[in-house]
Amino acid sequence: MVETMDIRIEKNSKSKLQQVDLENPVFGKVYSDHMFIADYENGEWKDLRIVPYGDLQISPANTTLHYASTIFEGLKAYRDRNGEILVFRPEANAKRLIKSAERMCMPPVPEALFMQSMTELLKLDKDWVPSAPGTSLYIRPFQMAMDPYIGIKPSQTYSFFIITGPVGAYYSQPVKVKVEKHYTRAAAGGTGFAKTGGNYAAALYPAVKAQKEGYDQLIWTDAKEHAYVEESGTMNLLFVIDDVLVTAPAGDTILNGITRDSILTLARDQGMKVEERRISIKEIVQAIEQGRLQEAFGAGTAATVAQIKTLHNDGIDYELPDVAGRKYSNQFLDTLNKIRYGEIEDKHGWVYKI
Ligand code: COI
Repeated sequence: MVETMDIRIEKNSKSKLQQVDLENPVFGKVYSDHMFIADYENGEWKDLRIVPYGDLQISPANTTLHYASTIFEGLKAYRDRNGEILVFRPEANAKRLIKSAERMCMPPVPEALFMQSMTELLKLDKDWVPSAPGTSLYIRPFQMAMDPYIGIKPSQTYSFFIITGPVGAYYSQPVKVKVEKHYTRAAAGGTGFAKTGGNYAAALYPAVKAQKEGYDQLIWTDAKEHAYVEESGTMNLLFVIDDVLVTAPAGDTILNGITRDSILTLARDQGMKVEERRISIKEIVQAIEQGRLQEAFGAGTAATVAQIKTLHNDGIDYELPDVAGRKYSNQFLDTLNKIRYGEIEDKHGWVYKI
């Protein structure tokens, strides 16, 4: 039996829910009434509490503000036809947070603490889970160092938080991506596989540059040769070439995406050939030119399945096959959604009911 810990609950006396358009929530702008906080001190997690969502008071010397000692997760809760709240693969997020913590010299948040705190928070804010098609409640757990110390060493104190908010699509349209061959997201031995703030901050400059040129996102390439596909920063990348699903292996430079893993599992379930291997930009471009690239898409919690309609490489925009006709990725999204909303059998045990 998993041991449960006491969580103190301080309710918000004035809900903001009535002011929110749950039919059309915009990603990342609105937050639910409550948040969870736990503090780590002297080797243990303590003072578990759910309190009204609000600003934090932090020392200006807080080590995270200076040195990015922070990690996070992203997962979603869905409302099924009967009004029940279903969370997609939360245990996988809890495990990945622990992996990120280890890389960043942080104490692990035990899986049981992660699950219990998320469950209690969602029970309290269950009315915030939207029901309109394509909507969900985004759950953002994060952990940060709290020592007010500007020397460089692992902190002695940490906090673990969970905030949530109703969301719609992260990318509302198929995306245009640019292959990045100058800047680097992650190198072998670095922090690419960890979901840590610095990875995202460092990616902003090249991403903004590409946006100014008219692209939504980058395809990061490997740090050594800038020849092989990595990931996209907000999502993993998958391609269908000659009816084979191909994606970069989840090594130490790319995030081991849970949506990515779910899609690979669904593909294998249906007997599709799946290859997790290095894939060069040259191979992708050749496959496009020879008409063998059938589909290209990103996969992530926020992005879900984001279709790539244009791929830019070395000065050339390649228009990819029509999105509506992409039978594999459209079906993966449809099946994933049906599992998430409890409409078909969940044979892998991915859905966690609140
Ligand atoms: C997610 O997909 O949940 C993420 O954490 C990506 C984030 C950069 C929006």
